[in-house]
Amino acid sequence: MKVREYASVIEQKEIAAGIFSLWLQTEQIAGEAVPGQFVSVYSGDASRMLPRPISICEAEPDGRLRLVYRVAGHGTEEFSRLRAGETLEILGPLGNGYPVHDILEIPAERNLAQFSGKSGNDDPAKRVLLLGGGIGIPPMLQLARALQAGDGTKVQIVAGYRDELFLTEGLAAAGKLSIATEDGSAGTKGNVLDAVREQGIAADVICACGPKPMLRAVKAYAEENDIPCWLSLEERMACGVGVCLACVCQSKEVDGHSHVHNKRVCKDGPVFRSTEVEL
Ligand code: FES
Repeated sequence: MKVREYASVIEQKEIAAGIFSLWLQTEQIAGEAVPGQFVSVYSGDASRMLPRPISICEAEPDGRLRLVYRVAGHGTEEFSRLRAGETLEILGPLGNGYPVHDILEIPAERNLAQFSGKSGNDDPAKRVLLLGGGIGIPPMLQLARALQAGDGTKVQIVAGYRDELFLTEGLAAAGKLSIATEDGSAGTKGNVLDAVREQGIAADVICACGPKPMLRAVKAYAEENDIPCWLSLEERMACGVGVCLACVCQSKEVDGHSHVHNKRVCKDGPVFRSTEVEL
């Protein structure tokens, strides 16, 4: 259930140029959040009424909530000036999140059938591949932790950066981490799929979050290789709760209510099966 509350700032740090990590103490939101959900963050300036959607990076049972975001305008610039002890109005958790249970239920057998001949790999563990690009990397941290708890599951993360790295320590503790950078300053030069191909990373299931061109490429890759795949879409949002239709994306199926090929990213998503959406 979503709630609107004033959260207090525990700590804020700039962890890379223009990328901020904000730890908040919440009453209820952190306790209810599942990986892949987001919160709407309200500006203290009444002239900027629209909240900004920010994905959840970590949520702890004791109410601590971590948001990692990029400063991309006046709203996020205002948030970046918040200091410990100040408060911030947030609404959440919003959206559907990744279906962790369904992902853990996907059988590992296809892994053996598909890859043992090629790679000589006889490890029956299921391989979950998490692909995060840019500001789509932070939600992969909570997702990796949740999946790592599944028996017989191996979590491999590929994080794609423009240049400067962030969150690598936490990600490396939550799964096997590979890095891609556009400028080649660390890891594979190129994008997340370049790293997957270069390193021969196989997967039974893929979860991805990042900019649309990356998700389009991941969707094609997953469908070509017949790998079940969930994508978290980054869309511009306004209301954040399914009312204004500012965030619609094209879906394969006709929506039962509106009779159009649309889904609301904020309410029906942001996480979709790759086969469900057109990108
Ligand atoms: Fe308003 Fe999604 S942001 S419907």
